[in-house]
Amino acid sequence: MTLQHVDRLRIEAVAEFARAGDTSAVLAELPGEFTRYCRFGHAAVLVFPRSLDELAADLRSSGLEVGERVASVVVRERLSRRHDRPLETLEVGLFRAPVADGREIEIFALAVPPGSDLDEIAAAERASGSETHVGFEVTAPDRIALSGLRTALLDSGFAPDGGGYNAHVDVTVLYFRTDAEDPLLRRVELVSAGAHADMLAAHGVQAEQPAKALLGLMTGAWATQAIGVAAQLGLADRMAAEMPTAALARATGTDHDSLRRLLRYLASLGVVRRTGDTFELTALGELLRVDAEHSLHPLAVMYATSFYESFGSLAYSVRTGREAFEHIFGKNHFDYFAERPELADLFDRAMASSASMFGRVAELADLPSARTVVDVAGGNGELLGRLLRAAPHLRGVLFERAHVIEAAHAALEKAGVADRCDFVTGDFTAGVPGGGDLYLLSRVLHDWDDAQCRRILARLAEAMSPGASLLIVERLLPEDDTPSLAVAWDVHMMCNVGGRERTAGHYAELLAEAGFGVESVHELALDAALLRAVKLS
Ligand SMILES: C[S@@+](CC[C@H](N)C(=O)[O-])C[C@H]1O[C@@H](n2cnc3c(N)ncnc32)[C@H](O)[C@@H]1O
Repeated sequence: MTLQHVDRLRIEAVAEFARAGDTSAVLAELPGEFTRYCRFGHAAVLVFPRSLDELAADLRSSGLEVGERVASVVVRERLSRRHDRPLETLEVGLFRAPVADGREIEIFALAVPPGSDLDEIAAAERASGSETHVGFEVTAPDRIALSGLRTALLDSGFAPDGGGYNAHVDVTVLYFRTDAEDPLLRRVELVSAGAHADMLAAHGVQAEQPAKALLGLMTGAWATQAIGVAAQLGLADRMAAEMPTAALARATGTDHDSLRRLLRYLASLGVVRRTGDTFELTALGELLRVDAEHSLHPLAVMYATSFYESFGSLAYSVRTGREAFEHIFGKNHFDYFAERPELADLFDRAMASSASMFGRVAELADLPSARTVVDVAGGNGELLGRLLRAAPHLRGVLFERAHVIEAAHAALEKAGVADRCDFVTGDFTAGVPGGGDLYLLSRVLHDWDDAQCRRILARLAEAMSPGASLLIVERLLPEDDTPSLAVAWDVHMMCNVGGRERTAGHYAELLAEAGFGVESVHELALDAALLRAVKLS
């Protein structure tokens, strides 16, 4: 026998109750006409067998005609939340069995294998009877009937307890709770065909969801910090398979309890997942490993430190139209980083960490027809290195501010292409190297306002021969409300650099003023785009 005697008795009590169909015990206080508009459909109980597989046979041997077992997602989630247990450690099934006159019993079952530590959940749930309930099906599935029944229950001392609309079966369910002594009578469900959004709203269900959604948004800064702290601690690199959290705390020099709580929050964000008593990285979390391909580790640190501080003064940017970064740190961010080698290095690596957007550039750039590619403000050379590797005949020029050139040289050396590259220091508002037939401006124009963009493009136009190509990599603001990372990054630009994201049309105007014609626009990864423009005569 897989069921304990106590659970057997609980099932029998529920079955007997449903068989008798006597609603008066539940609804003694309700007006008689209540039952004219609804029927007692089911009674439900949660039990705790050793094994779900054996339970069906066990129930059948006791005379119940149970159907096939289905998984119960909702009860499993509620138990996981109520008892703070990982979902994957809980196996919950649902068996239905008809009893009399179209009524049935629902037997929810949480598997409690011998030796497991789930006994305490079983004891607590048997005592509270939180999942035990009776369900009424509304027989006149119109708004007035449902509304009247709801009012009758509320007037009789039942309190609203959530609900929802199940689109798969087109059914609305309202939950009610009361503090009746008998656990069987503490929860009532009203089940009505159709969607009744207004009833759910009246029941507090819709009002609760926007508040929950807004809470999630308002605490986005906590997520930024949690991910940033994980990156700073090197959690992703130090988490080994099945590593106890105590060992991870030792390896990272952190307080064990605090680390576990941080990991639980990161699990709720989808960065890690629980496995038994420990945690492992999800696909998102893998991107926080320093050595992961396209690692976002430096960006996670950047967004939780310098750019976090400046975002704290977003209001300044919105009020004045000037960048908060300069307001907070006293200098334009490029100048500020230039004086701090560690920050400059972090920034360069952070820029390179979203380099997956460069994936298609080599293929779209028409490299066979180019001889010399000039990367203007090329950062640490991530994009130039890719193009030089893709086209062995190509020569490159990396043009940058002095403090970045050294890092770029080292990176292109490592990529094995530094011998085909010249490194030129300079200021793109003063002039850029001539002699190239392909020019790159990757994620540069969005750092600046229109006036500065005109200056930069004018210097490029002076340096380039007619017919030379200019490739621009930027996130394009959609002309409509299509979701795009560009929308959030536009605010980032406003706050931190005084620049902006632009629509393709806006870039085309700036380019036309400088004597360029846009030839094509291609989508790249991470909501970026490649604009190809040609220098007109
Ligand atoms: C956002 S980063 C883009 C780097 C690279 N093109 C990429 O896509 O990864 C902008 C670059 O502009 C460079 N920069 C800023 N002001 C400059 C100036 N006046 N002259 C030349 N480069 C400049 C910065 O050093 C920085 O590397």
